[in-house]
Amino acid sequence: MSQIVTADRDGIRILTLDNPPVNALSFALSAELLPLVRAAEDDANVRAVIFSGANGIFSGGADVNDFATEPTPETKTIRDVIAAIERGKKTYVAAIDGNALGGGLELSLACDYRIATTRSKVGLPEIKLGLLPGAGGTQRLPRLIGAQAAMQMMLKGESVAADEAKKRGVLDEVVEGNVVDAAFGLACRALEKEPKRRLSQRQAELGIPGLTANALPFVAAQAHKMVPPEDNGGFAAHKLIDAVEAAVELPFGRGIAREARLFDELVRSAPSAALRHVFFAERELGKIPGLPAAEPMKIERAGVVGGGLMGTGIAITFANAGIPVTVVEPSDEATERGKQMVFGMYMNQVQKGRMTQEEAWKRGQSVVYTDDYAELADCDVVIEAVFENMDVKKDVFKKLDGIVKPSAILATNTSTLDVDEMAAVTQRPEQFLGLHFFAPANIMQLLEIVRGKRTSPQTLATAIALGKTLRKKGVVSGNEFGFIGNRMLFDYSREAMALAEEGVPPYRIDAVMKDFGFAMGPFAMFDLSGLDVFWHIQQAKTEMKGRSNIVDRMYREKRIGQKSGKGFYRYEKGNREPIRDEEAEKILAEEAAAAGIAPREAGDDEIRKRLVYALVNVGADLLARGVALRPGDIDIVYVYGYGFPPHHGGPMWYADEVGVKSVYDDVLRFQKEFGDQWRPAPLLAEIAQSGGTFAAYTSKELVHA
Ligand code: 3HC
Repeated sequence: MSQIVTADRDGIRILTLDNPPVNALSFALSAELLPLVRAAEDDANVRAVIFSGANGIFSGGADVNDFATEPTPETKTIRDVIAAIERGKKTYVAAIDGNALGGGLELSLACDYRIATTRSKVGLPEIKLGLLPGAGGTQRLPRLIGAQAAMQMMLKGESVAADEAKKRGVLDEVVEGNVVDAAFGLACRALEKEPKRRLSQRQAELGIPGLTANALPFVAAQAHKMVPPEDNGGFAAHKLIDAVEAAVELPFGRGIAREARLFDELVRSAPSAALRHVFFAERELGKIPGLPAAEPMKIERAGVVGGGLMGTGIAITFANAGIPVTVVEPSDEATERGKQMVFGMYMNQVQKGRMTQEEAWKRGQSVVYTDDYAELADCDVVIEAVFENMDVKKDVFKKLDGIVKPSAILATNTSTLDVDEMAAVTQRPEQFLGLHFFAPANIMQLLEIVRGKRTSPQTLATAIALGKTLRKKGVVSGNEFGFIGNRMLFDYSREAMALAEEGVPPYRIDAVMKDFGFAMGPFAMFDLSGLDVFWHIQQAKTEMKGRSNIVDRMYREKRIGQKSGKGFYRYEKGNREPIRDEEAEKILAEEAAAAGIAPREAGDDEIRKRLVYALVNVGADLLARGVALRPGDIDIVYVYGYGFPPHHGGPMWYADEVGVKSVYDDVLRFQKEFGDQWRPAPLLAEIAQSGGTFAAYTSKELVHA
């Protein structure tokens, strides 16, 4: 089927990309577009060419699926199309309506003029996929807006709204209405005045007042310092900076060749493969195998019970999505704190120039506090965010069930407790589920959607749609203790604690995990969430207790982490930076000795493997039992909720990267050395023995009661 629609108007050829859903510039589309460009060049009746896009978008860029296949000498890519434009003699205009991203914007940059509608957005987001713009973007954008501005835009992978893009010089014109008509007018005017304006003919400047191109090495060196290290998340960033340097230093043709070489290296790299996996896993989330088709209910009003930090964060999330929300909070003091938090958050957005005063006011006003449950009667969904205690939560739901309209969904924000047990106290277990937000709820992108035994398909479909409305990564989980994220965290924490009991100081364990790419190590994380939380969980679930009494002792001595100024680290007043604390290490040693644990040496390799493979092993178990539906779901939970390095793709992707067989062999070795907590999950064994991968695992169908 043709992916390009051709039309002629008064000697101007209009080529419309039509490759739903996002007009990706695939190999196939490029193979069709290239002869069309050549034909336009050869046609004496064609004076100019306009590119536009169908499907409400200009183009989402190169087809990310193509990157997994090695091109053959016959393969045509968007680079070939752009090279033909570059060599061509006609005038080219890009008529952008909707997104022009990656290769889509690069196609526009190869044109002489760029015009867009007000609703459009343009950007080069390749860095988010561990790539750099590889179809001339790194050479043309610096020639258009200056090397410094181009570098910043590409390093952030920013999507810029049309008006702002025009201000920055990326676009020539922004219009309302039909962009092809406007592009036609622009082409006619251009043909009269300045028909050719190829960026390749320009010299790239630094774009920093007072500095000439001689300062390039200095500017590049600064940029290299600002991005993460090459082997820890910065693989593409350093290459991108090199490519921009080439734009200033080298003639255009050589710069393009340098860019192509760097891009080709990146596209074959492990970090880019991992980031592309995260991209696709995110887009799979809403597709639930086996979920009967069900129309999601409309959510127009929401309620939250509990106005603490969590409840207020959830309320802000709804307000940000334009859904008015009522928060029930009995305590005046907590209400005051909550209101201050809402107010402070929106003021901050205004101060940072991210929101108008009017918008901030509107959103702030849509969060209403009350102490009266009756005010929740009309809500379509009510989320409980009270103290983590089963009896307290059951009381809340009994009350809500009698007040909230019968069609409404009730949800718990518990992070560990049994969703079915709570559902059972209501008359509507089909309209009950877990919506587990992560603190701070208005910032963290992860949402675990926990289905109970009796949660109906419509309730689940509504929750998935709601997750999207709230701009969260909504991952469906079974009703396991701790669901996906915390269930796995327990094994990870067990190993962290075991290593510390064996005499490895917490700061070393944390350093190894940060080196691996985690945002923070396990002990800094324990201190941040509070050891009191950990202690409470251990009380509820005694099998969570470690070999020693370390958590008990820390709890008794009020060493509960950041909030008490000391935990596994100490903290200076007003500073969240963990400082090594030998006193805590002494306590660890004493408790380990009391529990009869002999000190032993552990290398960095062992530390990393014990922590990450603990995640993989329990992850495999959750998959086999259908608690998590797909390896990619687990990866999204870990990348978005627990700071797992995205350039390793999440624990399950990482296992594939290392080789499942090799992970399995280490797990067996750990079982021999440390005991049966390391018993390999049967699925891990199965995949290892068959030489397979988690990526090839066929997800289980969701089973409904
Ligand atoms: N390649 C392949 N598929 C893509 C794609 C791309 N570049 N962009 C989006 N898709 C697919 C998605 O996988 C999804 O497929 P599905 O329906 O089967 O799940 C579908 O298009 C719709 O995507 P979204 O759900 O994300 O739709 P939205 O409307 O929310 O967002 C978008 C649209 C803003 C275009 C967003 O999809 C996006 O940001 N895409 C990626 C853009 C990007 O990174 N482009 C750079 C590509 S690399 C490149 O161009 C290299 C070049 O320099 C040589």
